[in-house]
Amino acid sequence: MTDIRKKIERLRAEIRRHDVLYYVHNAPEISDPEYDKLFGELKQLENEHPELLTPDSPTQRVSERPIEGFETVAHAVPMLSIDNTYNEEELREFDKRIRKGLETDDYDFSVEPKIDGLAISLRYEQGHLVRAATRGDGSRGDDVTSNIRTIRAIPLSLEGSHIPDILEVRGEVYMPKKAFAELNAAKVEAGEPEFANPRNAAAGSLKLLDARITASRKLAFFAYSLGQTSEPLAETHFDAMQKLRNFGLPVNDVVKAENAAAVLKICHQWDKKKTNLDYQIDGLVIKINRYDQQDILGTTGRAPKWCIAYKFAAEQAETTVESIDVQVGKNGTLTPVANLKPVKLAGTTVKRATLHNFEQVKRLDVRCGDTVIIEKAGEIIPQVVDVIVKQRDLFESQPFEIPTACPACGGGVEKDENGVYLRCVNPNCIAQLKERLEYFVGKGQMDIDKLGPALIEQLVETKLVKTFADIYTLRFDQVVQLDRMADKSAANVMDSIEKSKTQPLWRLIAALGIRNVGGQSAQILADEFGALDKLMAATVEELTAIDQIGPVMAESIHDYLNKETNIKIINEMLAAGVKPTAPKEKASNVLDGMTIVVTGTLKNYTRTQIEQMIKDHGGKTSSSVSKKTAFLVAGENAGSKLDKANQLDIEVITEDKFLKRIR
Ligand code: IVH
Repeated sequence: MTDIRKKIERLRAEIRRHDVLYYVHNAPEISDPEYDKLFGELKQLENEHPELLTPDSPTQRVSERPIEGFETVAHAVPMLSIDNTYNEEELREFDKRIRKGLETDDYDFSVEPKIDGLAISLRYEQGHLVRAATRGDGSRGDDVTSNIRTIRAIPLSLEGSHIPDILEVRGEVYMPKKAFAELNAAKVEAGEPEFANPRNAAAGSLKLLDARITASRKLAFFAYSLGQTSEPLAETHFDAMQKLRNFGLPVNDVVKAENAAAVLKICHQWDKKKTNLDYQIDGLVIKINRYDQQDILGTTGRAPKWCIAYKFAAEQAETTVESIDVQVGKNGTLTPVANLKPVKLAGTTVKRATLHNFEQVKRLDVRCGDTVIIEKAGEIIPQVVDVIVKQRDLFESQPFEIPTACPACGGGVEKDENGVYLRCVNPNCIAQLKERLEYFVGKGQMDIDKLGPALIEQLVETKLVKTFADIYTLRFDQVVQLDRMADKSAANVMDSIEKSKTQPLWRLIAALGIRNVGGQSAQILADEFGALDKLMAATVEELTAIDQIGPVMAESIHDYLNKETNIKIINEMLAAGVKPTAPKEKASNVLDGMTIVVTGTLKNYTRTQIEQMIKDHGGKTSSSVSKKTAFLVAGENAGSKLDKANQLDIEVITEDKFLKRIR
């Protein structure tokens, strides 16, 4: 047993070391698959020896169940804002105020990027992360610990020596540009509104009640200051940041600058290199380096006087609209896209810019031939922000005509329920079919990787595939005769179709492309119903009753699964051998419909294990006690949750009693 324990501890230390190499030093030593292998090994050992699980194991980042709401917590030291400057002049004014305030010119600055995300306080006690909170109103924020734990860049325990007993680290949670682009692409696929910029995406992802969704959002973190500490960490900001880095926290480039001129030089350098970063910065933060001098300067209440932000101007470019295309999405949504005369903007050549919807086209009155100003939304997605009307040829120019028919199939169009998007309503629209099939075979759905867009195009054009079900009745001789197909490639296609037949149920549900239903919702539905026929028989009321399934989603699921054509296609798929793998069976139904909270230190099992048992027996777990709580399982040292349960008169039972109840 001790050997196993040692092995588990070694694996954990090894994984943590690689996390730090990756997130803090940007210098990974192993590849992703090698990392996954270590992680898999640890997970397996912990599965076999659940008694050896600890909350700070790298496998314990994601809690399994959504919480009901965030509790608010007080900040020991207020979380302030920063004043902004936009040019050299204002920056020099700042320097003058400092000199006056300190009555000396013996001071230096530190300069670092201003990350565009949201401020977080991380409280470490005895080196372990015990709480994470948002800024909120500066004196109280939301407790987002379970969501923050899912961010792999944030260590659950610190490494190194001389770590203060209480160490509150502050920094910015952000979404890297690539993750932002991927998230928005998935949102568009699911017919959901996109996030306007990475900052909103990060904030939206952190304020989710279900940490499993937060975990999928690829958030990251940079530390940039301290809150409460049980002892001073350093004499200067610069040295404190080096210490945090040594503790295993990601800290961005902080450089020292001797005077205002040096600060300005650094600002100009960053202005040039900012577009090459894989995260968004909207300026630089300039701080007085010595803590004793920061104290002398003090704060204005809202913002410190020892700190200022130098904000970059948003980059813009001018170009002309050559034409406006209308694209048809998988659910028929028509999206106008401007084709532009290619122009350089913030590091890339931009040829196209989305116009989002026809309301936007009307508002801007964008027309073919117009000179327009473009900007990158969150420095990533090019957008038309303005039309220079006075450069328009008044004789030639015509307002853009909003389509009255689908540009791909000529079918009718209608406004959607919000009155913003236009949608092609022809169920046999060929453009929609291609999009739907591409989605169906996609990586996050049925994952039929050998069926790429070019092949789908041919299958649709030759009418071999008119529905999802047709994929499963395709024959080798039909596939091999298509363009660019040989025996081997056709066999690979057949093989990858065959393999997809037993994909997990949630993947099939997701693949149907039901409006508003993405991968996460599909998983919830699969867990809840366990089989496709049960989901198909569900009423709107039953669907709405499920945690995380709102009325709009419930309605669209119900609509989809009660349409005769869809039922026929699903039945044909099943008849052709599609047999989705069901989620794990429940052990019993004794806790059906109950929401249960577990708290305190238990004797025989970890909290995670008890929570798993609750789910296995049909119950739900929650991290906070409310009127809806069926009962509280309390171990030793139970705190505020026990108080709350007593206050609300909710039954409290021991671990032993709980075990009896489920047996
Ligand atoms: S220092 C009281 N450093 O910008 C000042 N803030 O617009 C403590 N921010 O609330 C903050 N990067 O969320 C600091 N390198 C950085 C930062 C940074 C981004 C955020 C922070 C702050 C906001 C103000």
